[in-house]
Amino acid sequence: MKPTQENIHPIFAEILDREAKEQRLRQRGCVIWLYGLSGSGKSTLANALERRLFEEGFTTKFLDGDNIRTGLNGDLGFSNEERRENIRRIAEVAKLFVQAGVIAINSFITPKNELRAMAREIIGDADLLEIYLKCSFETCAERDVKGLYAKVEEGKIQQFTGRDSAFEAPDKPDLILQTDQEGPESSLEQLYQFVRPKLRKD
Ligand code: ADX
Repeated sequence: MKPTQENIHPIFAEILDREAKEQRLRQRGCVIWLYGLSGSGKSTLANALERRLFEEGFTTKFLDGDNIRTGLNGDLGFSNEERRENIRRIAEVAKLFVQAGVIAINSFITPKNELRAMAREIIGDADLLEIYLKCSFETCAERDVKGLYAKVEEGKIQQFTGRDSAFEAPDKPDLILQTDQEGPESSLEQLYQFVRPKLRKD
């Protein structure tokens, strides 16, 4: 036991369970985790998916890298250790949503297999869908929606993913979307068709 846990007494067993909450919401809680380079379309797609599911009556929570990094993870930068802590906290938060029966839609670069494995370990196999947005660095740089790639060129951003901080191709994503080869509507449709059957209990 870690020293900091010595006087902590969790009450997991007494808490109103997930099952009851899922039944009321008429859905299955899970995490739909989108990862890929900055500019690969994660936020756009996550946002569109959330709206579509919301219109159908699902209860969801969109967790996005840039948003979380202004609040909960505002103390973290982009070193390997900080990215690890970023993903660890996000996975723990997403797990809380799942326990409340909610569908969490996560949009984080999640650049390494080790980080994806940690998220899977925290959330659990049965509750995580890994979606890889495959898009070349060149295409992301061309699109440069946030103007970050231009700043990288000017030497104004260090530890940038895909440049001087590694992005590993994933080992075993549940779905791959080639966002540099198809439009957002097509990616959304594939994503929706993939996740939709997994979200209802009945
Ligand atoms: S992760 O690597 O730890 O998963 P996360 O998804 O939370 O990254 O945050 C990525 C977002 O932070 C990017 O979309 C971008 O807007 C911003 N950002 C700022 N600096 C960097 C950087 N050095 N590398 C990558 N993204 C950065």
